[in-house]
Amino acid sequence: MEIIGSMSAMQRFSKALRLSGKTIGFVPTMGALHEGHLSIVRESVKANDITIVSIFVNPAQFSEGEDFNRYPRDYDNDIKKLGGLLADAVFIPTVDSVYPDGYKTYVEVRGLSDKLCGQFRLGHFSGVATVVLKLFNAVMPVRAYFGLKDYQQCVVLKKMSADLNLDIEIVLCPTVREPDGLAMSSRNAYLSAEERLDAALIYKALKEAELAVKDGSLKVRAIAPRLRETLSGVKSITEIQYASAYDPDTLDEITGGARVLIAAAVKMGGTRLIDNIMVDLQAAEGVVC
Ligand code: PAF
Repeated sequence: MEIIGSMSAMQRFSKALRLSGKTIGFVPTMGALHEGHLSIVRESVKANDITIVSIFVNPAQFSEGEDFNRYPRDYDNDIKKLGGLLADAVFIPTVDSVYPDGYKTYVEVRGLSDKLCGQFRLGHFSGVATVVLKLFNAVMPVRAYFGLKDYQQCVVLKKMSADLNLDIEIVLCPTVREPDGLAMSSRNAYLSAEERLDAALIYKALKEAELAVKDGSLKVRAIAPRLRETLSGVKSITEIQYASAYDPDTLDEITGGARVLIAAAVKMGGTRLIDNIMVDLQAAEGVVC
């Protein structure tokens, strides 16, 4: 497996592969790889001639006071895990290579970036869109893979890709969960033992709302108060940033519709956790809006 450390070296490597007719699948990550990432890498290995995984803790998507410095970094272990999955290259650019002195250009996906997480993480999605576009230009993939746990990120990146006519298929992959339902995330490592137990209650709350809305005992417009009530009863949750039903395309809060995204972001002390479930109400019986 190749290990590539700069934007220019990555471009040379990928250009040669593309010229020889190979399809490149790309999995961008910030490292500290867990089963959620690895399941995505396996998807790419299955569907493409070559799979390239990037590991880059992107300073542009963290704001003042967030966890950029303490974000877990475990490059040696990550490289071992990827080698075992038959990934072809790991791209680990330096910050200077991605954002050289005098760097000035940022991508902004208007209207989608300032909702949900964007209200609490100013500039976050501009940082994500910018780095992903730069990584795309270095890796030149045919397909790029993202996890649905970061649902808003998926919507923002699909829109960027469509608006900027990128010839890259954006493939969205299901959330991988721990046995108790907690969505896998590198940030779960920050949780104390008690917080870790309580963290499973976030998915449980979303799932309860989903089931109740599907069996008709909860109206879509009552999802938000029900979630708030449930989540505010969880001891380790110190702040509920959002918890409601959203239009999966516009990310606006909704009171009905055929497809409903039930999503929440909470803080447990210094740790911010997000999760979501997509509910197809057309397939369900007894729904009341
Ligand atoms: O989801 C992530 O890990 C990051 O936001 C991404 C897509 C790698 C961009 O830094």
